[in-house]
Amino acid sequence: MTGVRGLFQVLAEDLDAARAHDPAARSRLEVALAYPGVHALWAYRAAHRLWRVPSLRLPARLLSQLARAATGIEIHPGARLGRRLFIDHGMGVVIGETTVVGDDVMLYHGVTLGGRSLNRGKRHPTLGDRVTVGAGAKVLGPVWVADDAQIGANAVVVKDVPAGAVAVGIPARIRVPNAPVADRPRNEDPSELIEYVI
Ligand SMILES: CC(C)(COP(=O)(O)OP(=O)(O)OC[C@H]1O[C@@H](n2cnc3c(N)ncnc32)[C@H](O)[C@@H]1OP(=O)(O)O)[C@@H](O)C(=O)NCCC(=O)NCCS
Repeated sequence: MTGVRGLFQVLAEDLDAARAHDPAARSRLEVALAYPGVHALWAYRAAHRLWRVPSLRLPARLLSQLARAATGIEIHPGARLGRRLFIDHGMGVVIGETTVVGDDVMLYHGVTLGGRSLNRGKRHPTLGDRVTVGAGAKVLGPVWVADDAQIGANAVVVKDVPAGAVAVGIPARIRVPNAPVADRPRNEDPSELIEYVI
């Protein structure tokens, strides 16, 4: 989706995603003014546009850090986030550079989508569509969390999570018996797995 109209549609979707996920949200205006998760996401969408121009990567990082100071949410501008992401409460969320997030994902405060190595390549998680990550959970390394999975509050996930599974504890164990083996797509480049917005 391109152009100003497409951009406004994406921003409106972000507001509606917050309303859909938070029973306390009463209007788009309230969400636009009072939800740090939405502010951080919008700053990310702008920073990511800058990041895609190699000469503008420093301004992208600065914008990202400004948003972090204002919201307590750190999203690296190189991350690839899908549509209608909702970050509830937000404070303490960290999303690393090579993270990929699908559509309709929900993250609570204190979530880390982080790395476990100092390699420059893909080192952060890939989340499918409709994944929920509970408060304080850490998803570490280039793991694949498949569609509709739920990560429990304070879990530490270091291995792939199958579609629809619930992962809880440290290290996280899968709570759905008979779940299919993690259905990581065959595509070798995680950045191409999920269409992202801007
Ligand atoms: C993981 C979660 C999604 C599971 O929800 P659910 O599908 O309803 O599952 P249940 O509540 O039936 O729990 C299933 C099992 O996992 C355990 N469990 C649930 N959440 C857990 C957690 N965060 N850590 C460890 N164990 C957990 C339950 O005790 C239960 O264990 P049992 O089978 O031995 O009895 C949910 O408990 C959770 O943590 N959601 C995150 C919510 C959050 O972060 N809210 C913040 C609001 S500000």
